[in-house]
Order: sequence, then C-alpha cells, then structure tokens
Amino acid sequence: MAGLESMFKPSAVAVVGASKKPGKIGYSIIRNLLDSGYQGKIYPINPKDKEIEGLTGYPSVSEVPDQVDLAIVSVPARAACDAAEDCGKAGVKNLVVVTAGFKEIGDEGKELENRLTSICSQYGMNMVGPNCVGVMDTHTPLNASFSGAYPNKGNIAFLSQSGAMSIAILDWSLSVGLGFSKMVSLGNKGSLSEIDFIEEAADDPDTNVIICYIEDITDGERFFKVAKEAVKKKPVVLVKSGVSQAGAQAASSHTGALAGSDLAYDTAFKQCGIIRANSMTELFDLAIAFSNSPLPEGDKVAIVTNSGGPGIITTDHVEGNGLTVARFEDKTSEDLKNNMPPEAGLNNPVDVMGDAKADRFDYALKSVSADPNVHSVINLMCPTAVTEFEKTSQALIDVKQKNPKIAYFAAMLGGESLGDAFNMLSNAGIPTYTFPEPAVNSIRGMVQYSKYKENLLNEEKEVPVQVNKDAVKDIFNNVKQDNRKVLLGSETSAVAEAYGIPAAKISLTTTADEAAAAGDKLGYPVVLKIASPDIMHKTDVGGVKVGLNSAEEVKQGYNEIMDNVKKALPDTPVSGVEVQSMMPKGTELIIGMTKDAQFGPMIAFGMGGIYVNLIKDVSFRLAMGINNKEIREMIQETKCYKLLKGYRGDPPADMEALVDTIYRVACLVRDFSEIKEMDVNPIFAYTDGVSALDVKISLE
Ligand code: COA
Repeated sequence: MAGLESMFKPSAVAVVGASKKPGKIGYSIIRNLLDSGYQGKIYPINPKDKEIEGLTGYPSVSEVPDQVDLAIVSVPARAACDAAEDCGKAGVKNLVVVTAGFKEIGDEGKELENRLTSICSQYGMNMVGPNCVGVMDTHTPLNASFSGAYPNKGNIAFLSQSGAMSIAILDWSLSVGLGFSKMVSLGNKGSLSEIDFIEEAADDPDTNVIICYIEDITDGERFFKVAKEAVKKKPVVLVKSGVSQAGAQAASSHTGALAGSDLAYDTAFKQCGIIRANSMTELFDLAIAFSNSPLPEGDKVAIVTNSGGPGIITTDHVEGNGLTVARFEDKTSEDLKNNMPPEAGLNNPVDVMGDAKADRFDYALKSVSADPNVHSVINLMCPTAVTEFEKTSQALIDVKQKNPKIAYFAAMLGGESLGDAFNMLSNAGIPTYTFPEPAVNSIRGMVQYSKYKENLLNEEKEVPVQVNKDAVKDIFNNVKQDNRKVLLGSETSAVAEAYGIPAAKISLTTTADEAAAAGDKLGYPVVLKIASPDIMHKTDVGGVKVGLNSAEEVKQGYNEIMDNVKKALPDTPVSGVEVQSMMPKGTELIIGMTKDAQFGPMIAFGMGGIYVNLIKDVSFRLAMGINNKEIREMIQETKCYKLLKGYRGDPPADMEALVDTIYRVACLVRDFSEIKEMDVNPIFAYTDGVSALDVKISLE
C-alpha cells in the first residue's frame, strides 16, 4: 500500500469534530497532537468554533488553506460519511476514523461502513478504522489518537485490533519504560488492515520488531505474502485471539476431520515465519527481547544463579523448549573451578551460591561469556541477605557491553529488595523478568526466528511440474454435468494420472464379463470395489474383494459385491464395479487436502490407513507457496518419518518420490479451486516409488 508515509509523517493534520470542551474526544485529539510535540500544522474543524486551543478552526476541511495529509474524524457516525466526502474533495490522503457505530453494531452499521469505505476508495484515501483509537509515531512525533497515554520513543511497532488493548498497553509501557516506534489501532479494518501496516513497518527504519494483536485475518493470501517478505527484514510477533469461524469446514474427509479450527492460522504463521505468542504477556516479553538483544547465534544457553531451585527450573524450561543447556569447554570449567568456592556448582547452571556478592557473579558471567559454546546467558538473582542487586546488575551490564554477540537476560526473583536494579537492567537493554520462564521463552522465540529467517533466505524455488490440466477439466465437467460432487474411483485415477500422482490403475466395469476382461488386462491379482459416489465406506457394505487371481474369481466377486450392496443399500445408485491392480504392501501413508476459507487449501501428510483419525500422526502446510523443502520438513515432523527412514533394519522409503507426489497434490488443489476435499489414503511408500491405492476427491 503506497502513501502511508504521509499518514505517519504528515505536514498538516485536520481534526474533524475538534472541540473546545475538555472531556470530549475531539478535544483530546487536539491536545494529544499538541502535547506530542507534532511540528506540522494542525487544523481543528468545527462548524461553530473559529479557535480551539489557540489553533485557527475551519467549518470544513475543504476550506482549509493548506494541503491536509491526515484527517482524524471524530464526529458521530451519521455525520462521518459527509465528513469523509469533504476530505476526499479536499484531496486528503489519509483518514483515521475514530467514530464507533459501524459494522460492530450490526447490519445498519455495516451498510454505513460500506458507504464510508467506498467514499475512501473513490477518492483514493487510506483509511484506518472506523471504530479505532487512532495512530501514533513517536519518531515524527505524532499522536493522532484519543489515547490517555503517549509512549516513549522506541523501536517496536504495535498494531492492535482492539482499541482498549492498545490504550491499556501504552499506559503500562510507561511504567516499565518500554518504547514504541508506531502504534496503530486497527478498529474495524474497513479499508486498511494489519497487512498494510506490517508491510509499512517492515520498511520503516525506526522499527526493529513488529507486534500485533489480531482477532481475524480477512485476506489470507495477501497476509501470507506480505508477512513472509516482512519476516525477511524483521521479526513479526503476533497474538491471534478468537475462535476461527472460517476454520476448517465441517468435513467428511479424513483430512478435514484432522484439521482443527485454529490450524490454518497456526500453519500460516509457521510457514511465513511469524512467531505466535500465546498471551499478551508473552507478546511483550518477546517484544522486549527482540527490541533490545542481538539474535542469539545458536540455541546454547548458560545459566548463572545464586540459588539451586531457580537454576533447576530454568534448566528444565530450557530443555523443555527445544533449547540446549550449553556444555562448557574444559577451559571454562577449569577457570570456574579455580575462582569459585569449592561448594559452587561449576557445570551449567553455574551456582555461585547464596552468599555470592557482585564479584562472584561478575567472574562467572565473564567466564561463561568467553566460552564459544554459549549463545545466550540467563542471570538469576535471588534476594539473600547479602545479594548486591545493583552492583551485580552493573556487572551484567558491563559484561553485555563487552560481548555484543551474546544475548543476555535477567530474572530478578523478588520484589521489595531489588531496589533500582530492575530499571537499571531494563534501561541498559537487558530483558529482565521476575521469573526465569519468560527469559527462556524469549530465547526460544529468538532462536526460532533466526532459523525461520535462515530458511526463508535460502528458500527453494518452486519447480513447475508437467501436468495435464485439460484432462482434469474434462473429468470435472463430466462430474458436474452428472450433478455429482464425488468422483468415482476410475475418475480419480485418471485425475491422478493427469497430474503424475502415481496411483494403481482402475477400470470401471458394468458386467461380470467386463470385470474379468479388465482383470485379464491389468494382470492378477486384482481388487474389486463397488463404484458409487454415495458409498464412502465400501468395506462396511461388502463392497470390496481383494486378492482375486483369475477371471473366474473376478466374475464371482463381481456378482457377490453387487448382491451385498443391493441388500445393504437397496436404494443407493451404483455405477458398477471398479477393477484395480492389487499393489504389494508398502508403508501406509495419507496425503490429503482440506480447505480453509481464509488461507485456501491445506495439505496434510502422515500415517495412513483406517486408523488415521485415531493415530493422528499428521502434519499440515498451506498449499499456497509450498515447496519441496517445506514438504520434507512436513514429513520429518511426523512419527512415521522414522518408519520411512528405515525402521529396525527395513530399507528406507523413496523419499523423493513421496515429496514429488505431495507437491503434485498441492499443484492439483491449487490449480482447481473447485476441489473441496481430497484424501489419498492409503498411499503405499516403497523403496522405489509410491503408489496411491485410494484417491477420494469431492467438488464444491
Ligand atoms: N464537521 C465538523 N465538526 C462537526 C461536525 C462536522 N460535520 N458535526 C459535528 N461536529 C462537531 C460538533 O459540533 C462537536 O463540537 P462541539 O464539542 O464544539 O459541540 C464535535 O464535532 C463532536 O460532535 P458531537 O456531536 O458532540 O459528538 P461527540 O463528541 O459526543 O461524539 C464521537 C463523537 C466520534 C466521539 C462518538 O460518536 C463516538 O463514536 N464515540 C465512541 C468512540 C470510540 O469508542 N471509538 C472506538 C475506540 S476503540
């Protein structure tokens, strides 16, 4: 989205609905602009008052003798559209509509919001809101909001879908000395959304980390693309609340049933490198860490503590979060041994003991920081009678300054006796917490981001595969003409063939003789299956015969299947019996697709067979932008990966054939948006190649 620069760095701002009366929102916005130190021109717009807070007022924006870059609208909802129209005519570039009473109140408000949005697009105006608190840029400086608090200057861009949440956070930030570069209250996201501001903040030199509180994403594809690019430049940390209404649809496929409602969001965030925080506390713990610390160069953590218990808790949490408790080099251990009391714990955690003064902490911190196996350090201080909080904090600050590549964190267990130490560390850019867990969570997030970034920067390009789209189009057209939604086995087998998905061949037959001829052609043994779009579970109605070795057995099998199905489901239409080559047993897997309303098709891979929903050994990726590297990671996330690598002396499966098949399924579902669900279950993996035994496709 072009032109957001003029929203955050406007040369002139108008406040439509500005008021002389303290206590009114139109008054607060004027005061906030003035108090923030905004250097541009401010124009109060009010039908009666010609002067507000010493500023010259005008009855409308079109009468302002200046080019207005940003107008903040604070008039009642019924007057907002006219105000927007006036701004549009006056060539205003950006609108912030704080007014409530739109989409959030129901159909009538929604209609009004649509009108407001279309006025903005008619005049090419960017709009934030309606129903928002406003926007801020501490570097301009600009406070175009009615927030009670204005934050310190910093490098965190905060985008929030909840106005109340943003106001509360800004107020809190002052008490902990946290600084922001920008704050955007997104409101109803009538026109601009988090996507536009993530894009903008990614290129903002004043922003080092982007944090978001969001409740929904309405354009999954654009979000995905923008976020993926943004993450290459700086970390994006996000809290997503609210149960997804657009989650996986009520599904009849195995894959659909395996996907939870929040899965698409989780998968999308993972795939585009966004770090998902589980709470607001975690969001800000991570924000503080990213804002101040260098990215750790690896996952190895050193712990220095004056107390055993917190050291153990930290160790457990480090290991439980996929990080590593650093193993010191002999030189470090020797150094510690020579300089610590004999009772001290010299392995990691380094326990400097309850009687440690600042000098002992200092020695331990210097010693572990010199060890090449250490990427992050957590310093734990418990308030014993002799703990020197401030002196120890100064020692930590000095060590940090001498080791700019190491990420330092502090946990100050206690309260009253900490003195100014907490602030000293925070002000020196050392993320400091009361307990050790948030420090570990922050390191985990930072290490996770480093890995994502490395992966994203070394991303594999998508390689186009040879497919026959026209053949699939014809098959789908036939199915639609038949007024069917579910493809027959013979049709799915042809679709698979057109996309190079290896599948056991299927012939549809309508007499016992035809079935026998098909068996002769395919070669024995063969499998017979009832062909009916209305029968999902064929075995349950006696509709499957396996291991038939001759034309005679096939004829007999054909007749038995027809009799069984007629008895079990007398009124169900049947198209005949499918004859399929019987494949040798391989590792039983599933590849599937279910659709999310925001993020489109999601590909599933895992352990297949009839127990798939019981075992639930599956991983997911969005089909959007999937590549072979991601597919390999997806396979590695499952337990059946161990089987595929060759379990207990078995030879390994043909991984490349499997990766290629998953990729082709992704291409198919991306090319044909009418595919509603797809299950390839089971698909057998062999040492040489793979073969799909049962492919189910249903259309929208
Ligand atoms: N152009 C310029 N000024 C206009 C105007 C127009 N078209 N129409 C009205 N005004 C003036 C009014 O005269 C008044 O000025 P005054 O104080 O000098 O009399 C001022 O604009 C405000 O109008 P008023 O009718 O008094 O409204 P209000 O201040 O009571 O309420 C809102 C306006 C926007 C604050 C209110 O409608 C609202 O939406 N409140 C909720 C905000 C909110 O919670 N947002 C979401 C946060 S998450």
